[in-house]
Amino acid sequence: HPPTLQMVESSTLRTMNCRAKGGAPGFKVAILGAAGGIGQSLSLLMKMNPLVSVLHLYDVVNAHGVTADISHMDTGAVVRGFLGQPQLENALTGMDLVIIPAGVPRKPGMTRDDLFKINAGIVRTLCEGVAKCCPRAIVNLISNPVNSTVPIAAEVFKKAGTYDPKRLLGVTTLDVVRANTFVAEVLGIDPREVDVPVVGGHAGVTILPLLSQVKPPCSFTSEEIVYLSDRIQNGGTEVVEAKAGAGSATLSMAYAAAKFADACLRGLRGDAGIVECSFVDCQVTELPFFATKVRLGRGGAEEVFPLGPLNEYERFEAVNHFFIVYFATYRNCYTCIILG
Ligand code: NAI
Repeated sequence: HPPTLQMVESSTLRTMNCRAKGGAPGFKVAILGAAGGIGQSLSLLMKMNPLVSVLHLYDVVNAHGVTADISHMDTGAVVRGFLGQPQLENALTGMDLVIIPAGVPRKPGMTRDDLFKINAGIVRTLCEGVAKCCPRAIVNLISNPVNSTVPIAAEVFKKAGTYDPKRLLGVTTLDVVRANTFVAEVLGIDPREVDVPVVGGHAGVTILPLLSQVKPPCSFTSEEIVYLSDRIQNGGTEVVEAKAGAGSATLSMAYAAAKFADACLRGLRGDAGIVECSFVDCQVTELPFFATKVRLGRGGAEEVFPLGPLNEYERFEAVNHFFIVYFATYRNCYTCIILG
């Protein structure tokens, strides 16, 4: 006879007790939207992360199926599944890190802003749960449009009296991952050797790769700069169109989210010198939220780095496009206030 859900749950509990006695080190991580395109691959990658001791997988569909599947992997993290709103609080209680890829993805012809109406409500509900059950957790917000869902999450936390700007991080790592890959292709080197800071926002022209600050130091022709900037800014659309209605980036996004989550966990552990780009509440420009390099530590984004020297092209792009982030953020924040 196949095991029943009850049997699976009691075996999970036995494993948890057993590992707790052994004092297995690690952090408690929840993924909200774990049964989706990003969520499933991300769950797999987080189950492989040795810094994770407990992994909670929450979704409004198929959470137990994904959990049963992932739980058979012989890695350290104990996995538990949570299905639907009534189980949200149990999914969140005691978590150190909450990763949110819940929501609808883009279809061809849609911008990230088109997702706002649906995803804003989803993010609001999930963040209300975070504020209630794990207000000190670091939140990695993936649901698009990140330029607007991050300000919405901030409003929810402010309303609940739990807002700590250092703990709310919009995930823009995919922009950096793409930039590293495309720049490495142009330079003809290994992408693992490349580090491109990507600042601004997380939608089309608001994504600004700082090609003048690429490591290792290098120079590009003006044609290369135009090609690279355009490809990095439109990498998401490239995937949406290639998938032709079957969704947006999920595999590279899960990789990017797992990379960023791992950096957050190493920061929580107290490792020194963990620096990643993220869309955060900061003062590097006059805009309330901005993607820039941050140093991750026990308290989240403990230090926000300035943009550094920009060349003429980057200054032009910045001046022309930063206001687009500004309007996107504020229009949607306004809608957020209307949402109540
Ligand atoms: P998907 O549709 O495959 O998965 C979304 C999952 O969220 C589904 O399993 C769905 O059941 C779940 N969900 C819906 N409402 C929920 C709720 N109230 N609570 C919990 N779970 C809920 O979509 P996919 O491709 O995984 O994308 C997810 C989000 O990530 C989209 O908003 C997409 O635009 C965004 N995204 C963000 C990127 C970034 O760089 N930050 C890159 C790619 C996608």
